[in-house]
Formats: sequence, C-alpha cells, structure tokens
Amino acid sequence: MNFTNSVVGKRWMAFAGIVWFAYVVFHMVSLLNFHAGKEIFNDFYTWFNQLPFYYLMVAVLIFSLGLHVFTAISRQLANNKSKGVGNKKPYPKEIPRVVAWSGASTLLMFVVFHFVQMQLLDQTDLHQQLLNIFTQPIMLIVYVLGTITLSTHLHHALSNVLQTLGVSSKQNNPWVVLIVLILFFGFVSVPVSIIYA
Ligand code: HEM
Repeated sequence: MNFTNSVVGKRWMAFAGIVWFAYVVFHMVSLLNFHAGKEIFNDFYTWFNQLPFYYLMVAVLIFSLGLHVFTAISRQLANNKSKGVGNKKPYPKEIPRVVAWSGASTLLMFVVFHFVQMQLLDQTDLHQQLLNIFTQPIMLIVYVLGTITLSTHLHHALSNVLQTLGVSSKQNNPWVVLIVLILFFGFVSVPVSIIYA
C-alpha cells in the first residue's frame, strides 16, 4: 500500500479539501462586498491584495489543490487496479463514478481558468472588470457552471466528512444542504446583480 492509498493519504486529501472549503467561504463572503458598491469593493481588494498574507494564501491554495487532485487520482487508479471485487472501494450507487469525475474535472478546469483570468485583470478597478466579464453570456455560463459543480462537489465531500466523523450518516444532511445553498446563492448573486442592474 502506497502513501496516496493509505489512511494518511486520505487524511491529507481531506485536510487539503478543508483548506479550500475555508477559502471558498471567505471568498464568497468577501465577494458580497460587490453589493456595497464600487468604492468599498475596490478598496477591499486593493488592501487585501497587497498583504503578505495574500501571497501566502495563494501559495497554500495552489499546493493544497495539487495535493488534493494528485491524491484523488492516485487513489482512484489504485482502486481500479485492486484485484477482485472484494478489494475495490464501493462507490455510492446514486452517483456514478463517471458523473463524479466529470463534475470534479469541470470544477478543476473552472478554478484554473478563473484564477488565471483574475490574475490577468487590471486590478485598479476590479468592480468594472467584473461588470465587463459578466455582460458576456459565455462568461455567465462558465461561472454558473463552475458554481454548480462546486456545489455538487461540496455536497458530496461535506456529507462524507460528516459520515467519517460519525456526526451524520445521511447523504442529505440538512446542514450540508444549507451551507451549499448559501455558498451557491452568494456566488451567483454577483453575476445575477449585474445582469439585472
Ligand atoms: C460568481 C462567482 C465568482 C466571482 C464573481 C469571483 C470573483 C473573483 C475576484 C474578483 C477575484 C480577484 C480577487 C483579487 O484580485 O484578489 C477572484 C479570485 C479568485 N477566485 Fe473567485 N470568484 C467567483 C467564484 C469562485 C469560485 C467558485 C472559486 C473556487 C472554487 C474561486 C476561486 C478563486 C481563486 C482561487 C482566486 C485567486 C485568489 C484570490 O485572489 O482570492 N472563485 N475571484
């Protein structure tokens, strides 16, 4: 048994996932500043982006995303190779493996695309940049799709974490559903407010 398929590998994968979950909550709450107007939004990001913490945060996010994806792929490959049905890790029947992996891959592509797109923007007026982005229908589709795949991925992941901790055995824990819905509507509120402005 190698590192990625061991309990230690699984713990690191969960830890990297928790780091990202914390960032996603923080990111969604920060983005709500968008509804407070151009000045407050731009001032917040001008202040935040020059903090040494910002560079540390981006480095931790890149490293933990790499670790999470690498461990997930290695575990899946090891699981595929396991001899005999008895050794294979069962997958929830309600989510076919191909659906879970397509969703996770779409989410990964969205995160990479979004990260690069944000780094290339003119940071002097981020508010205007978002207005420019979300008046393009293709960008609306990309961002809504990215947020949907994030929600489904989180729903599955958070339910698993609660099951592992022995807190809840349900796949549809109401707290998980509530957290996922709050994140989904929080993110989507930005493009939606631009379309209906
Ligand atoms: C409609 C939804 C979203 C909007 C409007 C949005 C907007 C933004 C903006 C304006 C920035 C640049 C901030 C800066 O200059 O520092 C940013 C950065 C970033 N976003 Fe998003 N975002 C959205 C959804 C997401 C989602 C769902 C994820 C991850 C799952 C994500 C991950 C990131 C990352 C990793 C960065 C770079 C780090 C940072 O600057 O905070 N974003 N986003």
